Amino acid sequence: METIHRQPGGPTVAGGGQRVPCATATDQPAAAGPWERRAHTVRPMVEADVEQALHVRHDAWRGAYGGILPPAYLDAVIPDEESLARAVREFRTGHPGRHRLVAELDGRLVGLVVAGVPRPTAPSARLPLPAERIGEVLSLQTVPAVWGSGVGDDLLRTARELMARDGRDVCTLWVLEENTRARHFYRRHGLRPTGDEQVSRMGGRRIRQLRYADAEAVLPAPREESTER
Ligand SMILES: CC(C)(COP(=O)(O)OP(=O)(O)OC[C@H]1O[C@@H](n2cnc3c(N)ncnc32)[C@H](O)[C@@H]1OP(=O)(O)O)[C@@H](O)C(=O)NCCC(=O)NCCS
Repeated sequence: METIHRQPGGPTVAGGGQRVPCATATDQPAAAGPWERRAHTVRPMVEADVEQALHVRHDAWRGAYGGILPPAYLDAVIPDEESLARAVREFRTGHPGRHRLVAELDGRLVGLVVAGVPRPTAPSARLPLPAERIGEVLSLQTVPAVWGSGVGDDLLRTARELMARDGRDVCTLWVLEENTRARHFYRRHGLRPTGDEQVSRMGGRRIRQLRYADAEAVLPAPREESTER
């Protein structure tokens, strides 16, 4: 698989074996944290990352969904032998049209993203585009210790660049309605709600998810039909 490097503030460079620091505290708005003055790297995920990736997911979910989803639901993603074996199987059989990237800081995984060929969901009436142009960010997680440091930005930008190279130049994703941090983050990245929603039960709660997509690709909402005659 191709290696992705990003120079601080510069374009992504594909290929080669050397890892290049991705961002430093000098590129990013100041925020105190253990990552301060350190650089992270974005690179393709390998099988040896799978176990740490489970811990990233668990930490990210606890940080983001603590007040949204019941503790029992969050505990269900505590990494154990069974979930590790399942995750390794999923990694080996992963969809070839999806990019899996990780962010590494000081030899530890601190984030991951999975993006590419969308899941089969109903097409959006507000995204009248050929299906081949649509890419989906299926998963984006960073550990709370690096929130605000630019790791999430780099993961999302790199995933979008890779999808665009595949011809999937319109980015879409689903986000929990109550996940206000992530919604703000996506808005800053030029994504907007399409108006599509889906409701599912998670840990006994009804949870609404909203579809987001590149703002310029989303048709304006139809005007309310007038009831006056
Ligand atoms: C989503 C995620 C990758 C974003 O990365 P991040 O480093 O936290 O993002 P940033 O700090 O750069 O941006 C978050 C923005 O939301 C703002 N914000 C934080 N809490 C907020 C809240 N409760 N309501 C509204 N905005 C909020 C921040 O101020 C920041 O805004 P700014 O860029 O204008 O200053 C990361 O938070 C994460 O992994 N969360 C857990 C998993 C998750 O929710 N994934 C998304 C699934 S769709």
